[in-house]
Amino acid sequence: SEITHISGKQKVADEIAAKVKDGDILGVGSGSTAYLALVAIARRIKEEKLNVKAIPTSLELSMFCSKLGVPLTTLYENKPDWLFDGADEVDPNNSLIKGRGGAMFKEKLLISSSVVSYIIVDDSKMVPKLGTNFPVPVEVFPQALLYVEKELQQLGANNILLRPAKGKDGPVITENGNMILDCKFDEIGSTMERDIKSITGVIESGLFIGYNLQILMASNT
Ligand code: A5P
Repeated sequence: SEITHISGKQKVADEIAAKVKDGDILGVGSGSTAYLALVAIARRIKEEKLNVKAIPTSLELSMFCSKLGVPLTTLYENKPDWLFDGADEVDPNNSLIKGRGGAMFKEKLLISSSVVSYIIVDDSKMVPKLGTNFPVPVEVFPQALLYVEKELQQLGANNILLRPAKGKDGPVITENGNMILDCKFDEIGSTMERDIKSITGVIESGLFIGYNLQILMASNT
């Protein structure tokens, strides 16, 4: 993992768009800068008649791609050559918390499938340790909620919240039909991602510890 500092979100977005080559399969993630990058990529596809296909990390991104005229493909047919996405927290080892948008399962699947992953953040995402500003989101099979909650407490989760939906009663239902537990931990060690994943009923967590990521930093100054 390495960090590249670039000033301004639009500049980072343009830098991402400049990396696109004819024939690329792109993983497309979420976030404000990632969206700017997608818009800039769509413009290049149109102007230069590039043959580029996108694999989006969420339904929302599928709709954005379609609206912007970026053709879609799936992980059944293609493997991403590279990907761009945002993050909620980045620690000094370039480990991440993601999942504010609830799409961390697909995001992790794409990051794992992609040869190169660019993570676009600004200074506000840099934290001395994971868990400083965001809880760890854990996607859980609904019938397993009570069991998983108990196991997460065993791992040191001291505050667990079933993520509520916005604009509807009840909890968030993910695109995979599951629910999300937002978990606060005092300490997130290097094995925490694996420990959480090994609980039966856990689909995925928003922890990305020790992945090979290229962090692109947009400075706010
Ligand atoms: C989605 O699940 C998150 O991980 C996003 O990538 C994250 O919230 C980034 O959004 P901003 O770049 O707008 O902060």
